[in-house]
Amino acid sequence: MRDGLEGIIAAETIISHVDGEKGIVWVRGHDIRELVSNSGYEGTIALLWNGFAGGNLARSGVCEQLGQARSAAFRQVPAWLGVAAERPLVEGVRMALAAIPEDGAPTTLVGSLTVAVASLIRARAGNRLVEPDGRLTTAADFMRMMRGAEVEDTIVSALDAYLTTVIDNGLGPSTFAARVIASTEASLASAVLGAYGAFTGKRHGGAPGLALDMLDDITASGDIDGWLESALAQGRRLMGFGHRVFHVRDPRGDILRSVLEQLNPDSSRLTTAREVERAATAILQRHKPGRKLSANMEMDAALLLEAIGIPRDAFTPVFAMGRIPSWIAHALEQRKSGRMIRPGSSYVGPRG
Ligand code: ACO
Repeated sequence: MRDGLEGIIAAETIISHVDGEKGIVWVRGHDIRELVSNSGYEGTIALLWNGFAGGNLARSGVCEQLGQARSAAFRQVPAWLGVAAERPLVEGVRMALAAIPEDGAPTTLVGSLTVAVASLIRARAGNRLVEPDGRLTTAADFMRMMRGAEVEDTIVSALDAYLTTVIDNGLGPSTFAARVIASTEASLASAVLGAYGAFTGKRHGGAPGLALDMLDDITASGDIDGWLESALAQGRRLMGFGHRVFHVRDPRGDILRSVLEQLNPDSSRLTTAREVERAATAILQRHKPGRKLSANMEMDAALLLEAIGIPRDAFTPVFAMGRIPSWIAHALEQRKSGRMIRPGSSYVGPRG
């Protein structure tokens, strides 16, 4: 058995392909860089869902349907907001997802998550909720609902680039969870809820906020090498480094970094992050020889989300907004073509 199922092929897919040695992410045969530049979030959803959640899908149609779904989702907010707003944000979002009806359609799921995250951020800060504007893109409407005012185009474009960049990464733990759940013929709503649960852990989608906490600690210490050496000596993991599949620097980190550089070319935070990355890569090589531990995309992702004003406790839910379309596509593909997923185990306990 391979520990953590590393290297095991668990599905055949036409949805995405990741090559961790060459630094490649493809979605439906398109390089992720091309999708960020040319298709944007809704255009990439059209590609992802084509043949699974409809045919001949186009960016404009997906944009319109998601707009309608957000308006419908907003009407449901009072049903779950009271209790959810009292809980930490990641948990509140889990409650909102759990409130989606069993027959929730793909657009309902995406629209509900967008509305839930924006509404919870506002409610937890004691602000009045802002109704969606179904004519806008997801990125524009989310920023508007979260801020309570129109937002500059550069900020909207940066969020759209972020949501597109993170949309799919092959069979990560959350996507695999979605496929396992869908393989039993459970609902899409259940597949998404289970995927979200798998996503929130700090080794997966829970990482970006913690990567920024680490950057703050390192900056406050004033000693990059000393801080990193001491963390590794205590057996701690460096957040934003290492990946099961990527053994070179994650190509998505480069996309996010160039968006960040456009947003703020003089950011001292970005300069420190670059210094930390250089130092950590060298120190990890010394501490874990042969492990090929490079920067994953989480530090760049966190800096980008911070730069556009997303609160730190919302990093994971906003990351989930990026990833939810691919949970849905993989669940639908699994439903269409896959057998129930039911691996075996090797018994190593005492014998009667
Ligand atoms: N810092 C220090 N050591 C590390 C790190 C790290 N970030 N990542 C892996 N290692 C070490 C482990 O301690 C282990 O060492 P050992 O063999 O001496 O015990 C070795 O590298 C292999 O670790 P595994 O956990 O088996 O590697 P895996 O492939 O499961 O790791 C993971 C992937 C979970 C992402 C890991 O690199 C990690 O914990 N990184 C930090 C958290 C993080 O940034 N997560 C975001 C990932 S991107 C995403 O999912 C959205």
